Amino acid sequence: MATRGIVKLGEDILRRRAREVTEFDARLGCLIDDMFETMTKANGVGLAAPQVGILKRVCVVCVDGETKFELVNPVILKESGSQVGPEGCLSVPGRNGYVKRPKKLTVQAYDRYGEKQIYKIADFEAVAFCHEIDHLDGILFIDKLYDKRTDG
Ligand code: NI
Repeated sequence: MATRGIVKLGEDILRRRAREVTEFDARLGCLIDDMFETMTKANGVGLAAPQVGILKRVCVVCVDGETKFELVNPVILKESGSQVGPEGCLSVPGRNGYVKRPKKLTVQAYDRYGEKQIYKIADFEAVAFCHEIDHLDGILFIDKLYDKRTDG
């Protein structure tokens, strides 16, 4: 395993749509391991592959320091409720802001072995999933800032 450099705001790759993963090989496993290590070292709770310069639909999430999610080709199947909370991003250092997200999610994703998984998650974990899945479509949290002075 190794840490990888984190791409920062201004780099074009953060704004592009990532490609579906079609090969569930050792290289994918290595990317996922490296992403977990990079995220942990940077004290992050999630990381998407474009943030390490790889334009593939892969992200990792771990909000409690224990439960590790690896999401390959993730798709949100269902969402309900809403919550507004502060977010930051390892690619946008020094900035935080409030974003409105669903309260609960059902997400389908593949693991590194190509096994389909279904995750039912809520609260901050749901925030992290949404934030990382957005990265795969070139969307950053600063695009969705929620103005607390309005009902938006
Ligand atoms: Ni981010």
